[in-house]
Amino acid sequence: MQTEALRTLRRLCPTISVGMLTADLMNLERELSIIQDEGVKLLHIDVMDGCFCPVMTVGPPFIKGIRTSMMKDVHLMVDEPVGKVPEYVAAGADIVTVHAESTHHVHRAVQQLSNLKNANDPERGLVRGVALNPGTPLDALEPLLSEIDMVVLLAINPGWSGQKLTAWFCDRVVKAKRMLEEADRSEVLVTIDGGVTRDNIRMVSGLGADIIVTGSAVFDGKDVAENARFMLDAVRQG
Ligand code: DX5
Ligand code: ZN
Repeated sequence: MQTEALRTLRRLCPTISVGMLTADLMNLERELSIIQDEGVKLLHIDVMDGCFCPVMTVGPPFIKGIRTSMMKDVHLMVDEPVGKVPEYVAAGADIVTVHAESTHHVHRAVQQLSNLKNANDPERGLVRGVALNPGTPLDALEPLLSEIDMVVLLAINPGWSGQKLTAWFCDRVVKAKRMLEEADRSEVLVTIDGGVTRDNIRMVSGLGADIIVTGSAVFDGKDVAENARFMLDAVRQG
């Protein structure tokens, strides 16, 4: 099912999705307008419930409150997302990613996403993502491939930004791409999340990722505009 949201996202790739939680949250409006002015089109929002991973972050009211024209890329790191997904969609998510490890019923969560309307525009549809933690076999994706639009590979264990991406992860991305090809589902987008820095973004992008999530490398307390430009250029030229 090719929704308008998915078509728009495909046109933007390769691109970055900027992790909002590492921004200066007291000045969020300013931070978001800086990255938007640099051409960032995807805003990555990490939702953590303190159960699926130790940290707790934001929920639907916060997501709803963010006024932006960037697509809201909502990464749900919450236990049992089935039943909770509609609240996030109602809050304005354009892209919703659930973790395969977070529920007995990941297929049901994906089905749920297929049946929901985008709250920003009912005609636009949603983008359905499934994420895997670094320790989860790629095979967990196999039964879902015909019904998802995006695979999100976490390069680090969820919970904290600023962690280090390790060498074995590159091999995992290559294997995931091969798996998609063999299943005749190469159009499924591949996102890499966590541990991407100025120093490794070209290498990571060279693995064939469509979307690269970057948090601390953009909002590192220095020049946010320059950081965003650097990371965007790196994926476009990669
Ligand atoms: C990990 C999150 C990531 C991460 C990104 O739990 O899903 O989005 O915080 O931040 P950086 O780019 O700093 O690793
Ligand atoms: Zn994330």
